[in-house]
Amino acid sequence: MMAEITKDNSQSASLVSLCNDYEHYLRCIAQFDKGVSGWLADYKIWVKDDLGTRILEKLDVAVPEGGQLRILGVGSGEGEVECNLISRVLTTYRSIHNTVVDPSVTQLDLYNARVKDIQQQSALRGVDFDWHAETLAQYRLSSEQSGDQTKFHLISALFCLYYEPDMDSMLDYLYSRLEPGGVLLVALESEKCDVIKIEERFRFAQDDLNPLFSSRDLRDYFSGHSIPHAVCGQLNEHHDFDITAAFDDSSEEGALLLDFLSNVLNFRESVSSSVLEEFKAYLRSLATGRDGKEFLYYDSEHIIAWKPRMATSRKEL
Ligand SMILES: C[S@@+](CC[C@H](N)C(=O)[O-])C[C@H]1O[C@@H](n2cnc3c(N)ncnc32)[C@H](O)[C@@H]1O
Repeated sequence: MMAEITKDNSQSASLVSLCNDYEHYLRCIAQFDKGVSGWLADYKIWVKDDLGTRILEKLDVAVPEGGQLRILGVGSGEGEVECNLISRVLTTYRSIHNTVVDPSVTQLDLYNARVKDIQQQSALRGVDFDWHAETLAQYRLSSEQSGDQTKFHLISALFCLYYEPDMDSMLDYLYSRLEPGGVLLVALESEKCDVIKIEERFRFAQDDLNPLFSSRDLRDYFSGHSIPHAVCGQLNEHHDFDITAAFDDSSEEGALLLDFLSNVLNFRESVSSSVLEEFKAYLRSLATGRDGKEFLYYDSEHIIAWKPRMATSRKEL
């Protein structure tokens, strides 16, 4: 019976969310990335060329001679995507200070190594970094405690806001740290994405600390607060990812995929065989077969929100 799982609260309550083990979670993300059929490279190009251009069009700031554009990167991961964005911003703003906030030391180390590598090739020359191994909530608290009220010209929080239980409060906070004329870039999976459909259906390990968010919540937030914003679509909308291994009970890669899709740490070992079978049956019902493999549909939205400058304040920066 399909309804059995959502009713089985005792089982749901004992399941541990993936957020509790960052390193394992990162392995799951890496497994997901492996299953992406070629569009990840296109995505990075889109970030640099299209998204970067849209951001520059909306950025309404004039950095004084010798000054720096201030960027805050939240949940930047290993910086693969963010570096593409920054290199585009550098074409207009030659000097950038980037504050990076991510709780994973592993991710920050990878980002740091990437920056050094790219700087050697001069593509990120003009950017300096400071690193904060903190969640957004911790960064907020430590900034408040130290009285740091730095405002940023550009803030990006890509695919990380679902880790904060009170997303609206974090959006309030990020918007408050934006300079007038600045841009806030956020992204999450959309409600059309199979990953969200699966989470909505099963709601494993979801409690007040692990609510389910999609880009619909971002749109609702900006509309509800009358904040000017634009949803930036990607040209190639056909995005899917290979989950074939998830159906192989002996596959380690399949186990990581199941954890990623269920949002549960060690999902296969943590649920009864009937729940496991029901979950896989639902995956099959969503999946599309191609070349002997099974694919799920992926969809996300990137939203640019901006803070208009007040009339007459243009020269004040
Ligand atoms: C899916 S990755 C996204 C990485 C990058 N933004 C991208 O789009 O490629 C999520 C990142 O968010 C970080 N993260 C997890 N919880 C967070 C939190 N509470 N605040 C900020 N970042 C968080 C993770 O460590 C991870 O690097």
